[in-house]
Amino acid sequence: MRIIRAKDYEDMSRKAANIISAQIIMKPECVLGLATGSTPIGAYARLVEWYQKGDLDFSGVTTVNLDEYKGLTKDNDQSYYYFMHHHLFGKVNVDPTRTFLPDGTEKDSAKACADYDQVIEKTGGVDLQLLGLGHNGHIGFNEPADEFKASTNCVDLTESTIRANQRFFASIDEVPRQAYTMGIGTIMHARKILVVVSGQDKAQIVKDAFFGTITPKVPASVLQLHQDVTVVADEAAFSLIG
Ligand code: GLP
Repeated sequence: MRIIRAKDYEDMSRKAANIISAQIIMKPECVLGLATGSTPIGAYARLVEWYQKGDLDFSGVTTVNLDEYKGLTKDNDQSYYYFMHHHLFGKVNVDPTRTFLPDGTEKDSAKACADYDQVIEKTGGVDLQLLGLGHNGHIGFNEPADEFKASTNCVDLTESTIRANQRFFASIDEVPRQAYTMGIGTIMHARKILVVVSGQDKAQIVKDAFFGTITPKVPASVLQLHQDVTVVADEAAFSLIG
């Protein structure tokens, strides 16, 4: 595991965007695994800026996102589809037909999950997977559990995740209770993984996930077993690490 210490959120975002740009430059036809949440927003903003300056070309890139809320339509401003279009896809020259997310409107969970696994498989696999970190150690929407889930699955979101995501919705009742998420097995198959973490409120989970016991109770801890993981976190997030 490669640990990169950033000064603050801006510095973390710039460093993460540099790593993603390097991937696109080294392999223009790469497959990027992308994440939502507030943490990657700064990195996406840098990528858009560098695209606008002419330094980056997304025309060969394919993207697969980690997750999507079950029940939200693409035009719902809280769907992850909407998020990705707002922060990245709508602002760079990525081919919209090569940007993929689980289908939140598919009511049949088994079908939605099997379809998404097929989509990921058809891309040939993820070259670089970007991940944020939930307060309870979730990655994508893989919540603490008794086992690591291999493939795309439908999860019941925990109370703590619902509460954490409440800030994006008008009220807690509007936060969906379920989501489709790429499985831990698929995440671990990515050739490279980049984790971004920011803020004092993530310090304890950074310590538990990356320096503690590997257990499905802390889903991100499995990343310690991957051969090419880079964690870019700011000083606040690393404050409990010596
Ligand atoms: C959501 C997303 C995760 C994300 C997490 C942390 O639950 N499904 O992919 O990593 O939130 O979000 P934030 O970066 O806002 O702390």
